[in-house]
Amino acid sequence: MAKDTAPALGIRTLAVHAGQTPDPSTGAIATPISTASAYSYGDFDTGEQRFSGESPGYLYSRFANPTVAALEGKMAALEAGESAVAFASGMAAICSTLMALVSSGDELIHVGTLYGGTEGVMRTLLPRFGVHAIHVASASELQAAITDKTRLIFTETPDNPMLGIVDLAQTARIAQAHQILTVADNTFATPCLTRPLTLGIDVVVHSATKFIGGHGDATGGVVVASRALVDKIRGVGLKQFGGCLSPFEASLLIRGLKTLPLRVEAASLSAERIAWLLDEHPAVATVFYPGLPSHPGHAVARRQMSRFGALMAFELKGGKAAARTFLDSLALVTQAVSLGDTDSLACHPASTTHSAVAEDIRRQYGVTDGLVRLSVGIEDVEDLLRDIQQALDAL
Ligand SMILES: Cc1ncc(COP(=O)(O)O)c(C=O)c1O
Repeated sequence: MAKDTAPALGIRTLAVHAGQTPDPSTGAIATPISTASAYSYGDFDTGEQRFSGESPGYLYSRFANPTVAALEGKMAALEAGESAVAFASGMAAICSTLMALVSSGDELIHVGTLYGGTEGVMRTLLPRFGVHAIHVASASELQAAITDKTRLIFTETPDNPMLGIVDLAQTARIAQAHQILTVADNTFATPCLTRPLTLGIDVVVHSATKFIGGHGDATGGVVVASRALVDKIRGVGLKQFGGCLSPFEASLLIRGLKTLPLRVEAASLSAERIAWLLDEHPAVATVFYPGLPSHPGHAVARRQMSRFGALMAFELKGGKAAARTFLDSLALVTQAVSLGDTDSLACHPASTTHSAVAEDIRRQYGVTDGLVRLSVGIEDVEDLLRDIQQALDAL
């Protein structure tokens, strides 16, 4: 079949095959872990040409590494992007992207709720470098917030921890009309459920520590965008800040990616059932899950997500005391702050992930003392339902 008429490969095929070919010297199918920190360029002229960018080739592991490059290739294919660059953590990916794309005097708008770490960057780090960050609650408020200084719009959907949904196509349309760059944190949805670049977003960022790794044993971050934007972000984030991903972590993340579509589908199906259980329980005031028709972002989620994901938050009627009793009563679900793992994890955002967020902003976000966040894993759903039911019954 001619190449340009070949059908696009499915996400499960891409997750397994994209970005890797058997090692030419040994035939090894799994990408070898390349531990070299420096690569020989052989002679003077080749060295000069590689450093000037005139000829390709590895030089130094902080700039680029073959194992990390395999991960980057897989992520670019999964997100339908031209290029990708990996970092030592999600925060390194986010900060490198921001530092590469905004300068002193610029304004940035962030839409919806953000992960506490990212919110802290917007509120305390960027102002120190002369960048003014403005918060709006939804894409429909964007138009009014844009000024001639706005350079970038940042969003996260579904967001952490409220599972709010931002309309990415609408965000991209408004931004493009003003020639403003858009960045979307796709950690919660993963490319299995949403591909922001196909909706017009310019840059996708990930905490690879979550679903991409998926097994709670690797920390990393990834940015996917056009080649030109990725080159710029790589230049600042790796060459200047030096936040490079270890090849050992890259190897774990590549292995995690191979089962990403299977894990996300299994966990999302379980999450849908758990959300209904919570929704019907008298001890629960509100369930924040985009798959529930009562969720304010449900209609947009139906459009831009292929399933509703493995994350949810819910507000217990008894406030902090109820959250403590519920969490301490869980037997199978583990109390921890990460998410997207094979293991189901639950936490109390107000005292953990969002404890550093100022109380008024926390309240504005809806992160109350009775809020619990649940990341559904790939255990048998009947076991999870039983565990959650008994913890609710303890209230
Ligand atoms: C949505 C989101 N983005 C970014 C991050 C930061 O990622 P990392 O912990 O890998 O630095 C997190 C961490 O929880 C997150 O939830």
